[in-house]
Amino acid sequence: MEKHWWQRTNIYQIYLRSFFDSNHDGIGDLHGVVAKLDYLKDLAIGVLWISPHYASPMDDNGYDVSDFLRVADEYGTIEDFSLLLREAHRRGMRVITDLVLNHTSDEHPWFQAAKDPAHPEHRKYHDYYIWQKPKTDDTGQRIAPTRWIGWFGSPAWEYNAATDEYYLHIFYKKMPDLNWRNEAMREDIKKIIRFWIDLGVDGFRVDASNHLEKNWAFPDDYPGYQHFSSLPKHHEYLRELGTELFVPNDLLTIGESGGANKEEALLYAGYGSNEFNMLIQFGHCWADIDDHHPILRGKWAKGTFHPSRVKASFANWYEMLDQKGWNVIYWHNHDQPRVLSHYGNTGVHRERSAKALAAALYLMPGTAILYQGEEIGMSNVDYERLDQFRDVEVFTEYANFRSRGMDHEAAMQVLRDRSRDNARTPMPWTDQAYGGFSTVSPWIDVIGNYPDVNVKKQENDPESVLSWHKTLLRLRAADENITHGSIRFLDPKNDLDFCYRNTGKDSELLVLTNFSDQFVKKSLQEPNLAKFTLFLSNCDALRTPTETMVLPPYAAQVYRRALK
Ligand code: GLC
Ligand code: CA
Repeated sequence: MEKHWWQRTNIYQIYLRSFFDSNHDGIGDLHGVVAKLDYLKDLAIGVLWISPHYASPMDDNGYDVSDFLRVADEYGTIEDFSLLLREAHRRGMRVITDLVLNHTSDEHPWFQAAKDPAHPEHRKYHDYYIWQKPKTDDTGQRIAPTRWIGWFGSPAWEYNAATDEYYLHIFYKKMPDLNWRNEAMREDIKKIIRFWIDLGVDGFRVDASNHLEKNWAFPDDYPGYQHFSSLPKHHEYLRELGTELFVPNDLLTIGESGGANKEEALLYAGYGSNEFNMLIQFGHCWADIDDHHPILRGKWAKGTFHPSRVKASFANWYEMLDQKGWNVIYWHNHDQPRVLSHYGNTGVHRERSAKALAAALYLMPGTAILYQGEEIGMSNVDYERLDQFRDVEVFTEYANFRSRGMDHEAAMQVLRDRSRDNARTPMPWTDQAYGGFSTVSPWIDVIGNYPDVNVKKQENDPESVLSWHKTLLRLRAADENITHGSIRFLDPKNDLDFCYRNTGKDSELLVLTNFSDQFVKKSLQEPNLAKFTLFLSNCDALRTPTETMVLPPYAAQVYRRALK
């Protein structure tokens, strides 16, 4: 089993805009991160992953970059960024940034030139993006080249009168897709990457990395995802970046892809792969989709939560990469609902379920990524009005729900359950106004429970959700038996609990967690039970596990035994 520093580290994802506002404008910023570095260090965090900090009109909160070489004014300056790197490095922490390679903002100078035939650099930049002439339908009307639908739920083509062409945007019309077949474009991207490497960043999380190649035959399918996602050639582009930049500079790289078979998983994250060190995939993220919903589709259709699907996804990835590559474990990021609301319990079992979820995840092998606020048990939004939401996707999809006949209240509930804004509310640091995130009204409303759920309240309480996370994260950072262990789920098909053994070189963990609000009776037909002793629990627990056990609602009972 290969050993690298990044296999033993804990990663913390910072959604910059909502982390901490240092200059009282309601928007999180780089100095805000610097101010909280000691907090993160104390949490045993080794790597910060910072969501896009580049200049941007913020149509997609920075995933729409208008200048890759500048820091967004509202976040700070290049000097502030260097300060963050210095201060993090001084504390032995590393910093990776988000690298958005699939598209730019339509306000990026490349696109400004590309769309305008009168622009002096039009010829060069036109081909940096993906253009097609309009089609003519049976009635003689000029229409988009295909019926493809983008990931935010609207048509993937936008008409540009100046060139009488459509450009492709698989996310949003203000985010035109780059043409990765264009070599000059790729060279320009590499210059950008070099700039940040030279400044001292330690690696990248490569956004939307499986979308870089498109089917240039442009078949007219609906919605057409297979023509702009996970096409084999995107691996070539990633390999090019890896061989020329990522590997020689010894960077930590994490890709993002909606799914992968075994062969692809190894291309992305196999040892010696020249693409990434690890891959963020989403197999476990939507284990509660109702496939037969009358109105909603995909992630929007909330159904019953099936822990078995979570176990199946993790088990599949452990198997695909077994001995050959490295896994990432995480509950969610800025694109999914808060795990406590999603898979846990925000009622009477709130704290216990937050702890059970954490124990279940953070005692598994791999590198852990924790999303800001998870460590204090943040929950989904409680917004009553549509205009409290901010995400561009919310508005395209809300319109879709309504046009399919859903009433306003029902649509609001869907947004409160599933939208990306759930994970993007300001981090509550104290019980003061705006959760101490800012002294002024923030860019997006705080959630109402901040007087109860905040860092200050939990910091000095050894029983708090925060302290529980600290214990787990410190443990993983210190114990290779956890990160490099091999896992076996005890009852993979069971839809109430999440139990496994994680066997390391010198010690083994038996992790028993209950993901339900019922008492769960377990029969453990496992060898060596008597050799385990209680190590950690969020409720009353036996000192030694027995063949039949009853796990209280949202219990986490962790047993350990020495192997030598
Ligand atoms: C990724 C990001 C998401 C963003 C999209 C487009 O999926 O995580 O937040 O909207 O790419 O850049
Ligand atoms: Ca600010």
